[in-house]
Amino acid sequence: MKDQNRTPLFDAILAYGREGIAPLHIPAHKMGRGISPIFKAELGEAVFRMDLTEVIGLDDLHQPEGVIREAQELAAEAWGADRSFFLVNGTSAGIVAAIAATAKEGERIIVPRNAHKSVVYGLIVSGAIPVYIQPEISAEHGLVGGFQPAELERIYTEHPDAKGVFSVSPTYHGVGSDTASLVEITHRYGGIFIADEAHGNHVYFHEDLPMGALGHGADLSCQSTHKMSGSLGQSSILHVKGDRVDIGRLRSNLQLMQSTSPSYLLQASLDVARSHMAINGRTIFSDLLPRIMEAKEKLRRIPGLEVLGDELVGNHGIAYYEPTRLVFTAKSLGIEGYELFQRLRKDYGVELEFGDYFYGVAVLGPGTIQEDLDRLTAAVKDIVSKTPGKAPLIWKEELPAMPPQRMTPRQAYHSKTKSIPWEHAKGRISAELAVPYPPGIPVLCPGEEITSEVFDYLDGMKRSGRHLHGPEESNLSSIRVVTEE
Ligand SMILES: Cc1ncc(COP(=O)(O)O)c(C=O)c1O
Repeated sequence: MKDQNRTPLFDAILAYGREGIAPLHIPAHKMGRGISPIFKAELGEAVFRMDLTEVIGLDDLHQPEGVIREAQELAAEAWGADRSFFLVNGTSAGIVAAIAATAKEGERIIVPRNAHKSVVYGLIVSGAIPVYIQPEISAEHGLVGGFQPAELERIYTEHPDAKGVFSVSPTYHGVGSDTASLVEITHRYGGIFIADEAHGNHVYFHEDLPMGALGHGADLSCQSTHKMSGSLGQSSILHVKGDRVDIGRLRSNLQLMQSTSPSYLLQASLDVARSHMAINGRTIFSDLLPRIMEAKEKLRRIPGLEVLGDELVGNHGIAYYEPTRLVFTAKSLGIEGYELFQRLRKDYGVELEFGDYFYGVAVLGPGTIQEDLDRLTAAVKDIVSKTPGKAPLIWKEELPAMPPQRMTPRQAYHSKTKSIPWEHAKGRISAELAVPYPPGIPVLCPGEEITSEVFDYLDGMKRSGRHLHGPEESNLSSIRVVTEE
C-alpha cells in the first residue's frame, strides 16, 4: 500500500518555486513576472509560480522517471489500475490513444453508436473499421439505455475477429451498463475492453456508488478526472489493467495526442485530486449522497416533475443508475428540458450542465454545496408553479436504420470532400457526423451513405428546427460529402 497522502509532483513544483532559481526556460512569463497585471490581480502569484515546464526535478510526462512517475503510480493504486497515464488534453486524447492501441487499420472494433465524438477521431487515427451497436432507446423516457450483453454476444458471433469493445458507462444521463458481463464476453473472444468512464471516475471512492469498470476487469479506462473528481478542467487519466494492452503502442499514441509542453498546473491538479479523493473521497460522498437524495426527493414531490433513478434498472440494458447524477424532467407538464435550462440560468442564476428535449441535467460532485441544491429545487418548484399547463411532451419517432458503411471514418477523412446543398445529399457518402438531440445517437457517421431513410429523417428535423450536432452547418443548409472514393 502506498501512502496516498503523498503528492510528489505537487511538492516538487512548490519546492522549485521556493528555490529562487533564475528561470531561463519556457514559459516566457517566468513564474508570473511577465504575466498581465490584470490576470495576476485576479489569480494571485502562486498559480504562476507553478506554471512550469520540464525543468530539473520535475520529470517529463512523455518519459516519466521521477515525480510524475510516482504520481501516476499513486493514481494507479487509488483507482485499482496497474498503470495510469496523466492526460493534459482531456479524456478525448485518452480515448483516441486507447482505440488506436486496440485496433489497427482494417481491424474491427465494436463501438456503441452513442459514443462520444472522440471515438470517431480515434477511428480516424487508427483506421479501424467500426462495428456499431445501436443502443436501445426508452421512448417513454426519451433516453438512451445501456449496452446489452446479449447484443454484444450477437455481434461477436458475426465478427469474432473484433479486436476490442468500447463502452460508455455511466452515460451523461447517469445510465449504467452491465460492465461485468460485457468485459467477460469481450475477454472470451480475446478482445480488449475500453471503458469510457468520463462521468464515472468518482465511483471508486464510496461503497454506495456502483463498481467502476476497472473493478470489473476492464483493460483500459478513460476518465475525466476534471468532470467528477475535482482536478482542473482538461486534466484526465487513462488507466490500464492487466497485460492485454500493448503499452508501447499506447505510449506512442499518447505522444501523438498530447503537447510536448504539457501543463504542470494540470498535472499537479491530478496529483492532488487523486490524494484528496483517496484520503477524503469516502467522507465527501458519505456527506454528499444523502443530500443529493434529499434534493431528488424534493424535486419528485413537485407535481408533474420526474427525476431519473433506480426505477430504470432492469430495462433497456440499464444495470444501474449513478446516484450523483441529477436528471429531471417536466415532460408531463409540457416543459422542455431546454426551457428549464434557459429559465434556470436567466431567472434564477442556476446553470445546469445542459438541457435536452426532455431533461435538465445537473452534474454534482465534491464541490457541490447545500445552497446550490436548495437553489435548484426552489427554482424548479417556482418555474413549474408559474408555467401554465401545456400538452405533455412525447418522443415518438423511430431512428432510421443504420446506413451502410461505404468507407471507414479514416478513408472518408482522407478523401476529397466538398460541401453540397442539403437537397442534393441523398445517396452521397457523408464526411460528417450528424447527431440529432434527442436522443444523442448519430444517424450518420463519416463514411456512411446518406440513404433515403436517413435523408427523410434529417430533412424532417431540418424543417422542424430541431437540434443537430456534427455538421459544419448545424441547420443542414449544406453537408460535407465525399467526392472521390
Ligand atoms: C461520455 C464522454 N466521453 C468522453 C468525453 C470527453 O471528455 P473530455 O472532455 O475530458 O475530453 C466526454 C465529454 O463530454 C463525454 O461526455
